[in-house]
Parts: sequence; C-alpha cells; structure tokens
Amino acid sequence: MSGREEKQPLPGNGVIAILGAGSLGQLWAGYLPADKVAFLPRKGSDAPDRDSLSYRLERVDGSALSVKIPWLSSSIDQPSLLLVTTKAGDTLRALESRLPDIPSGTPLVLFQNGMGSQQAVAERWPRRPILAASTTEGANRPEPGQTVHAGRGETWIGALTDSARPLLDAVVRALASSGLTVHSEASIYQRLWNKLVINAGINAFTAILNCRNGDILNHRFYLEHIDGLCAEIAAVLCAEDCQPLAPDTIRERIETVARRTAQNTSSMLGDRQQGRTTEIEFINGYIARRGQDHGIEVPVNQMLTERVKQLSAGAKAGSSTNHIKP
Ligand code: PAF
Repeated sequence: MSGREEKQPLPGNGVIAILGAGSLGQLWAGYLPADKVAFLPRKGSDAPDRDSLSYRLERVDGSALSVKIPWLSSSIDQPSLLLVTTKAGDTLRALESRLPDIPSGTPLVLFQNGMGSQQAVAERWPRRPILAASTTEGANRPEPGQTVHAGRGETWIGALTDSARPLLDAVVRALASSGLTVHSEASIYQRLWNKLVINAGINAFTAILNCRNGDILNHRFYLEHIDGLCAEIAAVLCAEDCQPLAPDTIRERIETVARRTAQNTSSMLGDRQQGRTTEIEFINGYIARRGQDHGIEVPVNQMLTERVKQLSAGAKAGSSTNHIKP
C-alpha cells in the first residue's frame, strides 16, 4: 500500500449501526449522538418484537440517563459504520447472517475480547473495510434495563484489511463524537496482544477461583502457576511478530491491573456467573494454539483453558458447584 494513500470520508447515511446489544454495545449507543445510532438485530432468535431498546445508563460520574435506541429494520440505507460488539465466539455466525444486508463499503469495527475472532472475520471478508478496536472502557449490566459505565478507559482503533486504512481517521472521528477517548492505532495487533496478556493472567484465575480480580494475587493456585504462565506467554510473544516482553514484566503488568481493578468482577467470571459461554478459547486458548503452532510447550495455558471449559460444562449440565478446588 502506498504511504500517500488518500484519506476517505465514511460512506452512507451518517448512522452508526451496532450489532450486539450487550453492555459494550449499550455503552457506545448511550454515548453516541442519539439521532445517529441504531441497533442492528441479529437474525433469528434475538430479533426484537419492539422497535426500540430502552435502558438506563449510569455514567462514571454518577449521573444517569434514559436511553432509547431504535432497532434498524432489515431494509436499511447504508449505515456509515457498523460496530460489532458481540461476544468473540458469536461474531462470525452473527456476521454471516447479517452482512449480506450491509453494503460492501460499510466499515466494520470489531470490539471482541481476546484474539482469534478478529483474524477469522478479516480472513472471511478480506475485501471489506474491517477494523479492530481494543478498549479499556468498563461496562456491565447488573440487571436487565440497567447499564453501568464502571470505569472510564480509552479505545484504540486500527485497520485489519487494506480497504479500511483510508477510512481509519474518519472512523476515529465518528466514534470520538461519543465524547469517549478514541485514538487511531497503526499496530492494532500489538495493542490487542498487550490486552490479551493482561486478560490471560487475570480472567481465567478469577473464573476458576470465583473471586474478584484483586483476590487472585494471594491465592495459592495463582502463585503456583503465574510464573509458568508468564514464561509461556513470553515465549509465544517472541515467536509471534510482536514486541517481546520478559516474564517478569508480564507478571508486573498483570498484577498492576489486578490491583487497579481489585474490586472488579472480570468479564469471564461475569460470564460464568450468568451461565454464558466464556471467551477462554480467545484468551488462554488462543495463546495455547499459537504456542502449539510454534512448537512451544504451553501446559499452563492449556490447563487454565480446560479448567474454565469444565466449569462451564458443569454449569450447563446443572451442577450445583460454583467453585472447583484448584
Ligand atoms: O476482562 C476484564 O474483565 C478486564 O479486561 C480486566 C482487565 C480483567 C478487568 O476486569
């Protein structure tokens, strides 16, 4: 690609469509200009029977607002942007069913946790303008109809496919109209890896130990495995095309975030508690797969992945156990 490539404006009618009306989708919808945002229903099971979705958004400063976001009908004009805020494991299927209705020039921004789902989407639709976001905004839904912006963060956006590069600045400007902090990122895979490293060292431990982020740090199970985990991650990072990190630096980064978010329920523990499929396959499972591809031994990542999957399978089978002895 030429370094002098023209920057392009967004196509379409100015509307930002959001596929995935979970906490992150509701967070962005609540902050974006109200007349410029709409949810795109998934086909089939969760197609809404009302024409809008209403909820209360509690902002970080304690203020709250009532939000009412329309659902787009299937015969829509071209939206200017499609934000994809589905869970990592649902994303490919949700897009398979919806993208035939979306003009091929509409840029997609993928907000999934972990890694693996972004590459799968970019490989499936290599000609579409596809971007990925890495965000530290925290949101949760303690009960239906209530979305809480739990922690102010920042969002980095980068292009995954060639046709997305000229649109990057316009995408960042459109998302910054929310008032949230948005940056463009030239090395989005590196940014995703940096976040993956943190999630790999916190999420599975919280899900297995059934505890908040800060409580993992003094737990025997965490102390037994964290150095092995960091050594595996460091070896995989070296083999990937990304910035190498020493195992001690990885541990320090993980523990800094665990301390800073000590009172948080991680997204993975939240999924477990609500009986949802976790994103373990896109976090420790992804690192384990990359390690195996490079011929690197990854027993701790494999063990954490298996443990979390066993817990989810146990919960689905109706087990009353909500905590396994590590
Ligand atoms: O997935 C999460 O919950 C968050 O990314 C993190 C950093 C672990 C904080 O809770």
